[in-house]
Amino acid sequence: MSASDEDHMAQALQLARRGLGLTWPNPSVGSLVVAPSGEIIARGGTAPGGRPHAEAIALERAGDRARGATIYITLEPCAHAGGRGVACADIIAAARPARAVIALRDPDPRTAGSGIERLEAAGIKVEEGVLAEEAGAVALGHILHVTEERPAVTLKLAVGADGLMPKGKGAPVWITGPDARAHGHLLRARNDAILVGRGTVLADNPTLTCRLPGMSCRSPVRVVLDRRLRTPPEARLFDDLMVPVWLICSSDEEHPTTDALQDRGAEIVPVPVDAHGMLGVRDALETLASRGITRVLVEGGPQVARAFLDADLVDEAVIYQGAKPAGADGLMPFVSEGLDRVTSSGHFMQLEARAFGPDRMTWWRRIRRCSLALSAA
Ligand SMILES: NC(=O)c1ccc[n+]([C@@H]2O[C@H](COP(=O)([O-])OP(=O)(O)OC[C@H]3O[C@@H](n4cnc5c(N)ncnc54)[C@H](OP(=O)(O)O)[C@@H]3O)[C@@H](O)[C@H]2O)c1
Repeated sequence: MSASDEDHMAQALQLARRGLGLTWPNPSVGSLVVAPSGEIIARGGTAPGGRPHAEAIALERAGDRARGATIYITLEPCAHAGGRGVACADIIAAARPARAVIALRDPDPRTAGSGIERLEAAGIKVEEGVLAEEAGAVALGHILHVTEERPAVTLKLAVGADGLMPKGKGAPVWITGPDARAHGHLLRARNDAILVGRGTVLADNPTLTCRLPGMSCRSPVRVVLDRRLRTPPEARLFDDLMVPVWLICSSDEEHPTTDALQDRGAEIVPVPVDAHGMLGVRDALETLASRGITRVLVEGGPQVARAFLDADLVDEAVIYQGAKPAGADGLMPFVSEGLDRVTSSGHFMQLEARAFGPDRMTWWRRIRRCSLALSAA
């Protein structure tokens, strides 16, 4: 592995990051075709909707110049043909690059190493593992979709200087300034779905769309956990029907509100309840995965946030902390527990800390080995 391999893979990963939230049910992948001189001949990222794949786009752009070049790909090329054609491993073999540099093997059993074998059988020198950790973070939604039949979960919350969440008053109460909020909207754009509980819909009456200039088309599917379908049909969620609303409810009972909510454009998604009569968040995630969702941003209130933490289903957490306190009627972010449930638990490591004017954002990632060790104990 050379420094230039890392530089080129870093660029390919940047392309992959740009497609997050757009390519589900497929992973967002990036690819570069680079001449022996070091000139970048072509770039490609997975197209919206998941096809064509990144390497097919990059090779199409490179044309004959791909022969003898190096192709960089953030995920092993698929060995299975999709509905519309040829497997990417075969497209690469036919283009005859001299080398393929791949960040990560694809755990999808239809590929799982056979994409690489196919390249090697075609005489292409394959290098694996370049920036594998970064690639794993970008592809986490796909990896968990394949290995655990669930999407990756990012928990997002906003608290005041006192660590408490402001209480909604029929509309969201903003505890942070416009820059931090814009960053939060970028998070929405990079996820396939955004999930809240019914309590947040009642308290905040939010739209849950991405409202960055020019990016409204990047709004993810909006999902509400609503056991008995008591979301009011007049909620603002239903005002923008360009962005789907899925209401996850109990499959164990009839819901008299079904017709009224469907008339407002909601899609009703029944899920079995657990022994305590609650909607299991694991079941809800599996249902979302079965519908192709690979990345979920959980923006719910304390009850939903707590349920995801208790089920050990939070992969990343993004905490915005404003400069002013939420005040006397502020809510503990996890019902009866404070931020230290994430920040001092030892289950999460801090990846990033950033200021947005007077506000502060910290980004946390679950330490897998730690939680695996705990669950094995
Ligand atoms: N600052 C922030 O970042 C932020 C973000 C969001 C909300 N909030 C605030 O949080 C408050 C609302 O809190 P909340 O806790 O009621 O909201 P929530 O967590 O979004 O919703 C809770 C409701 O979700 C439903 N639910 C369904 N399945 C669930 C499960 N497995 N676990 C937990 N809940 C499940 C339950 O209603 P059913 O039994 O009817 O299904 C439950 O009452 C508001 O004041 C809002 O402004 C703050």
